[in-house]
Amino acid sequence: EVSARLKRDFSRGLGKHSHHKAPVKMLPTFVRATPDGTEKGDFLALDLGGTNFRVLHVRVVEEQQKVLKMDSQICAIPQDMMLGTGEQLFDHIAACLSDFLVSQDLKGQTLPLGFTFSFPCEQKEIDKSILIRWTKGFNCSGVEGKDVVKLLKEAIHRRGDYDIGSVAMVNDTVGTMMSCGYRDQSCEIGMIIGTGTNACYMEEMKNVKRVEGEDGRMCINTEWGGFGDDGSLKDIQTEFDRVVDKMSINTGVHTFEKMISGMYLGEIVRLVLVKLTEDKLLFKGQSSEALKTPGRFETKFISEIEEQDNGLENAQNILTKLGLKWELVDSRVVRLVCDTISSRSARLCAAALATIANRIRVNRGLDHLKTTVGVDGTVYRKHPNFSDELKATVRLLAPECDITFLVSEDGSGKGAAMVTAVAVWFIYCLL
Ligand code: BGC
Repeated sequence: EVSARLKRDFSRGLGKHSHHKAPVKMLPTFVRATPDGTEKGDFLALDLGGTNFRVLHVRVVEEQQKVLKMDSQICAIPQDMMLGTGEQLFDHIAACLSDFLVSQDLKGQTLPLGFTFSFPCEQKEIDKSILIRWTKGFNCSGVEGKDVVKLLKEAIHRRGDYDIGSVAMVNDTVGTMMSCGYRDQSCEIGMIIGTGTNACYMEEMKNVKRVEGEDGRMCINTEWGGFGDDGSLKDIQTEFDRVVDKMSINTGVHTFEKMISGMYLGEIVRLVLVKLTEDKLLFKGQSSEALKTPGRFETKFISEIEEQDNGLENAQNILTKLGLKWELVDSRVVRLVCDTISSRSARLCAAALATIANRIRVNRGLDHLKTTVGVDGTVYRKHPNFSDELKATVRLLAPECDITFLVSEDGSGKGAAMVTAVAVWFIYCLL
């Protein structure tokens, strides 16, 4: 049922006249091909989307068909900057890049740059990308509705101590798909299940009504996190989902993401535990300050509690740290709650992934589709059985699709470098 609803929303998002109001945005990315292994050169890559910001220098060498050299540096983005002004944020990014160029002895050069920016953007061209809205923990003023590439370039010009070459903007899902595509040519879906969740895939150009041209394919950033924003998931949202949404910094948006991703799973579990305690079904009805505090039950606790061998012991240690007096049965119930919430997340994701796989298969008129999905994100990587549950559910929902899951080698930064490589390579071909 969820997959059927999402299928309908995919069509709305792709439609020329329906996309304005569509909750699932289906954004054209202007990426028309996956890497074919012949890209080469020196690139810079930026990666912004979580609490950390990464800068990378990548050298791609054709002969070896692999990335030869890759250096990177991580800069933290302090919480107040995530909620400050856009100018502060971009000045910080430009400063981090400057430090990195000095440390790499690259300051005099003008290198092309790939920018993985993990938020929904209306892409006008590969180097023009308007932020639709912030998601996850970010809410910087003066950026929504603006061209992110321009804001970055302005911040660099304000400094005046270095310059960059052509810029290619990508979503992290696209970066992930590209970096996996470098290893496996049949990778045509990218999926993230981390702080946020989203997926992209290669769509037939003839179905992308908002972009001119009928031939070939283009990567579409689905922004499936927005599924349900028109109320279409109301019947499966729980009272806990509604509280999570109400307490978030972006109430009413990214409904599907709030039922699935790492930013919210811990909080959903906490709210269920609070309710069970109030109903005297846990801890003999005795709560604690920590349990009553939003954010104190971290998503990583879920993975620890669900660990096969030490899970119960981990649960008990966590409950003690949260100031709760538990008995064996309490720790078992807590584990069951974690399992319920993470399973729901995995199955919802599976329903969404199955929708994409089925769509690609039908698009190509195939009875059977063999494809690869590039995946990244802490929930997928770190949770002990999330990926197994997701795969099993996809098999049920898309029985005619044989999907290989490839965990992206080292996150989306390298994918961004790959996208720059492909974009620059295209420009060479056109000259
Ligand atoms: C953003 C997407 C991103 C996803 C995973 C969501 O909140 O809207 O653009 O791909 O998080 O990082």
